[in-house]
Amino acid sequence: MSKLIFKCEKKTLQEKTIGGSNDGNAVKKAHQLENPLESLDSVPKGGELKNGKTCEIKHFKAQQLSPALEKWLMDLMTRNMKHMYKKALDGWRPKKKWKEMTQPTSRYLIAYVDSKPVAFSHFRFDMDYGREVLYCYEIQVETERRSIGLGKLIMETLEKIASQANLPLVVLTVFKFNQPSLGFFNNLGYDVDETSPGEDEFKDYVIMSKSVC
Ligand SMILES: CC(C)(COP(=O)(O)OP(=O)(O)OC[C@H]1O[C@@H](n2cnc3c(N)ncnc32)[C@H](O)[C@@H]1OP(=O)(O)O)[C@@H](O)C(=O)NCCC(=O)NCCS
Repeated sequence: MSKLIFKCEKKTLQEKTIGGSNDGNAVKKAHQLENPLESLDSVPKGGELKNGKTCEIKHFKAQQLSPALEKWLMDLMTRNMKHMYKKALDGWRPKKKWKEMTQPTSRYLIAYVDSKPVAFSHFRFDMDYGREVLYCYEIQVETERRSIGLGKLIMETLEKIASQANLPLVVLTVFKFNQPSLGFFNNLGYDVDETSPGEDEFKDYVIMSKSVC
């Protein structure tokens, strides 16, 4: 799930910058990357899955998405997440979600198996409480393609991009009731981030992060 819905609210709550006097140079440089999969070293463009199939990963800026890909992204998002957002405090707001997914700095990794898109991540290079981060807004895998390593491959690709771009942290937000995803991220080494709301703030999400440098 994304951070945007809650971020403004949380900033006024905490009003803090924990990244020190960071000038954001790495984020500025990362914004210049046309395609991180092409221009950064040691970032693979795919890999082998547990079912023996090969997965190809492609990068798109939001503005580069075809109408067919845009439709698939929102469709998968809706199929995977609508029921969860309906349980959440903020509810399911598809127009707001699509606006968030198509911001000028929004980027995508899309995983293809047998030439079909089967999983994606929406991410951005961003400043977060004064820290230079790669923020993973979404990771979504088609139901029938889960548990074969696609989610892990995409997260590892994001981590390599962050590390090669000198962004020391990958950050994401998960609903507290999304137990399978919490397990998935824990398994990949993500911990509760220091900016995550405390229990006394009665939020339905947790912010997680992983250091990659
Ligand atoms: C969460 C999600 C992205 C995981 O993707 P996936 O492709 O099914 O996961 P993978 O097959 O890559 O699993 C990677 C590893 O995580 C482990 N894992 C997956 N789910 C787990 C869980 N609930 N608890 C513990 N470990 C888990 C796997 O066993 C695997 O471990 P291994 O590499 O040691 O074998 C996918 O289930 C999904 O799209 N869910 C719906 C959308 C969603 O909730 N997205 C997250 C929003 S924040």
